[in-house]
Amino acid sequence: MNHFEYQGDRLFCEGVALDDIAAKVGTPTYVYSHATLERHFRVFDEAFTGIPHIVCFSVKANSNIAVLRAMVKWGAGMDIVSGGELYRALRAGADPQKIVFSCVGKREDEIEAGLRAGILCFNVESPGEIELIEKVAARMNTRAAISIRVNPDVDAETHPYISTGLKKNKFGLPMDAARAEYRKAMGMPHIVIRGIDCHIGSQLTKTMPFHDAIARVAGLARELKEEGVPLTHLDIGGGLGIPYKEEEPPSPAEYGRAVIEALAPFRGMDLTVICEPGRVIVGNAGILLTRTLYLKQGEAKNFVIVDAAFNDLLRPAFYDSYHGIKPVLRRAGAATLTADVVGPICESGDFLARDRELRRPEPGDLMAFMSAGAYGFSMSSNYNTRPRAAEVLVHGDQFSVVRERETVEELLENEHIPDWLK
Ligand code: LLP
Repeated sequence: MNHFEYQGDRLFCEGVALDDIAAKVGTPTYVYSHATLERHFRVFDEAFTGIPHIVCFSVKANSNIAVLRAMVKWGAGMDIVSGGELYRALRAGADPQKIVFSCVGKREDEIEAGLRAGILCFNVESPGEIELIEKVAARMNTRAAISIRVNPDVDAETHPYISTGLKKNKFGLPMDAARAEYRKAMGMPHIVIRGIDCHIGSQLTKTMPFHDAIARVAGLARELKEEGVPLTHLDIGGGLGIPYKEEEPPSPAEYGRAVIEALAPFRGMDLTVICEPGRVIVGNAGILLTRTLYLKQGEAKNFVIVDAAFNDLLRPAFYDSYHGIKPVLRRAGAATLTADVVGPICESGDFLARDRELRRPEPGDLMAFMSAGAYGFSMSSNYNTRPRAAEVLVHGDQFSVVRERETVEELLENEHIPDWLK
């Protein structure tokens, strides 16, 4: 369910025509629907009604400060993975006591910043990290709350690059190692044990792997609690998939039911559930708006060259992922064309869609890459000295530019020619 629909032959986001946004803001531009974001957040949150829980939005999926601000207003906490994301979350007004700090390689200054902010906990991933947190907390004369990320060795059955819960992945600690680390951490004067954590991967389209992982981790939580480890929460990570093409992922309600069912044998343990959804909240709430530059007929293929490239939307090149394409203005009777939709970047890997059947666009025509709200802008770069796209948030029949398009001058601002080269 999202708010990108045609009215007549014009594609709208809520009450705003996308061609109006392109005319005022230019292209490429990311456009997000506030109504879709809100609906997705609320539906997800409601799936956990009846059990104590905190929804910590995974900032990496979409870190625009206006998007984060909206989440905060709806009661979200934040799942962050860097000092930069901590800064964003705080600037958006997030309650530090609803911030969990994941990441396999936190630096000392990031740990310090988390402690200064008074976050809910660090999701720690290695014995060395626990020792460093103990050291930093001791130096700051405070106590650090931690949760250990357990690797439950469950196959998430998703793209290998976004599968994280297997033994061969770099994430978390195996169950036995985690048990030993909890015991060790119990003796550390500047560590407070808060929870247990897992995240098995992203874009999952079945409930079973979640169910299995949660049951395993909850089993370990029970053993630990029996030993006197004072766990107060169980963090189930994120990972619920969305329909990009033909996938039929479980709805948030089905996902919530699977989680509650997996936890049923552990009722009475008094654990707050923390969830870290990213994609399911923002994925289908955003599109990438781009303009057709040229049509080119190669010997083997047709190419539609557009003004967005893989620096703007990396997912197709990186994961061979699929994003639907919609013409922003539907032209009656337009012929179809099978083509690769590519950007201007000097690499063959710069494609946004391959062998796609499209209504034949003309140079100047706008198109929308659908389901681009998650890991779209947040993974974009300046490759080829391309300023990053603008971001727009639509609210009813209004829209606001929530991130200006970068300028080339800004890109060069921090570069210097040393005197000896002048
Ligand atoms: N929690 C942790 C610890 C994570 O590593 C992630 C995502 C999430 C939560 C949120 O997962 P989600 O609910 O969004 O699936 N760039 C890739 C996805 C990478 C996901 C990384 N971790 C993509 O474009 O598909």
